[in-house]
Amino acid sequence: MKQKTLLSVSLIFLLFIIVAGSCKKTDPEPVVLTNPAQSTGSTGSTGSTGSTGSTGSTGPTGGTTVCDPDTVYFQNDILPLLQMYCVACHNPSLHEDGVDLSSYSAIMGKDGLVEPCDYHESELYEAITESDVDDRMPAAPSPALSAANILKIKTWIMQCAQNNQCN
Ligand code: HEC
Repeated sequence: MKQKTLLSVSLIFLLFIIVAGSCKKTDPEPVVLTNPAQSTGSTGSTGSTGSTGSTGSTGPTGGTTVCDPDTVYFQNDILPLLQMYCVACHNPSLHEDGVDLSSYSAIMGKDGLVEPCDYHESELYEAITESDVDDRMPAAPSPALSAANILKIKTWIMQCAQNNQCN
């Protein structure tokens, strides 16, 4: 008899703890989007911010990603670089070796050219780091890309080659 009461008392106590605990969770402050919560985003939700960004129409806050210094953006960093050094020979009308580097869809549309998250498997990265000058891109007699630009491309690929943009 006594044991039974003890059990029900502890059960009620337990229930109380659970209820109290769950009440505490109804907390304030939904994360404010305009906040440089983007820096927390840099861990990995940059990916998700990026993709909401590409849908764009999710509203002014969703559409504009604040530039994160640790992220390489296709539209801001990579495309201008390709336009400067590659697109003269790799565009929709002159696409040497079937390679068109003038847009994100053209780049990703060609198998093996850029393998998201894996620069080893990306023909584009291979081409710019090729040690044989005859095979290296941009084609001779142009000089190789700078180490900084090569690193940019590598980082973009390792961040899974998104079509991302920031302001
Ligand atoms: C002056 C013209 C020219 C420029 C500029 C140029 N390419 Fe090329 N590219 C070629 C030609 C020609 C070929 C095919 C013959 C070869 O492989 O050398 C080629 C082939 C390629 C290939 C496929 C074959 C391979 O080597 O893997 C890739 C990838 C490539 N280029 C990337 C680039 C990138 C990236 C840039 C800019 C950094 C660039 N190219 C700049 C002329 C150019």
